[in-house]
Amino acid sequence: MKMKKSFASDNWSGACPEIMTALSDANNGHNEAYGELDDVFTARAKQKFVENFGEGIEVFFVYNGTAANVLGVSQIINPYHAIVAAHSAHLNEDECAAPEKFIGCKILGLESPDGKIMARQIRPLLKSIGFQHHAQPKVISISQVSEMGTVYTIDEITELADFAHSNSMFLHVDGARIANAAAALNTDFKSMISDIGVDVLSFGGTKNGLMFGEAVVFLNKRLALDFEYRRKQGMQLHSKMRFIAAQFERYLTDDLWRKNAAQANYLAKHLEKEIRKIPQLEVSQDVKANGVFVCLPEKIIEKVQEKYFFHVWNASPQGKDGMKEVRLMCSWDTNTEDIDGFVELIKQVLD
Ligand SMILES: Cc1ncc(COP(=O)(O)O)c(C=O)c1O
Repeated sequence: MKMKKSFASDNWSGACPEIMTALSDANNGHNEAYGELDDVFTARAKQKFVENFGEGIEVFFVYNGTAANVLGVSQIINPYHAIVAAHSAHLNEDECAAPEKFIGCKILGLESPDGKIMARQIRPLLKSIGFQHHAQPKVISISQVSEMGTVYTIDEITELADFAHSNSMFLHVDGARIANAAAALNTDFKSMISDIGVDVLSFGGTKNGLMFGEAVVFLNKRLALDFEYRRKQGMQLHSKMRFIAAQFERYLTDDLWRKNAAQANYLAKHLEKEIRKIPQLEVSQDVKANGVFVCLPEKIIEKVQEKYFFHVWNASPQGKDGMKEVRLMCSWDTNTEDIDGFVELIKQVLD
């Protein structure tokens, strides 16, 4: 049965063929569990991370992105500290208060229409440092790609890292879509993450062709001390670890990550171009990676959703004529026919 496509999210797609082959190849005989000692799959996958991020890093595989964020940040923070993030950050809005429960700290959410935060917005929070009645800002967390589909430049991340370090803070990057960002900036992980002072990265896989699996990458080994116990206590030590590792090994070979991300990004640009041709619609965010945010007239939303599902991102009236902002995500398997069919349907229902 051919499943229908949607623009709901990049994790609505399946796993890409190369990853399915890697999973199938790993499904052979017995192998040491939990990624321990002689598990060659985990050793090879970790080596791929070193090739992509440089020496001196430490990598831990986990099952999902929420865990990567919560466990990664919990390693560099205490409950009396605060995480500074965009209000729209996944960590703040979409993790069912897992950071609050499992870290126990405060999140200081900053308003940000484009999903990005800058040092100048964080500066006023520094007045809390040393004041015992206030949670102490300790971690700046940014999402690359942001939840609004925008992308930080390398200079912007560098500025945030420098700002964090000069104020005894750390920089965490939620990289659920880090591959889309690197492809969009035409750069690599080393230049965008390791070389400019990011401390901890949640490295995504599931949204770009993996079946499951994410990684917590410590760019500085010293920060990773005892993390294996935190991961186990945090219920994220995968038993048949070879199946996460084998996927990452393949994902980081021959730039499969870039191929998948570039396809999704390219189709998002194509979608943006076609949408801009329809005068009744409004593109509401810069399209930098694989997400397109658009204001649609409310009356057509349900009709279009019946064929191609997508999420309404902002239900309060937006733009001219009280339209609603929706999010359209492209994935590694989105193709031009999907875009053309979707745009054609919009034109039909608008008539
Ligand atoms: C920006 C961002 N971070 C993290 C995640 C991780 O989510 P999950 O726990 O569903 O893997 C998501 C998924 O929607 C996301 O969009």
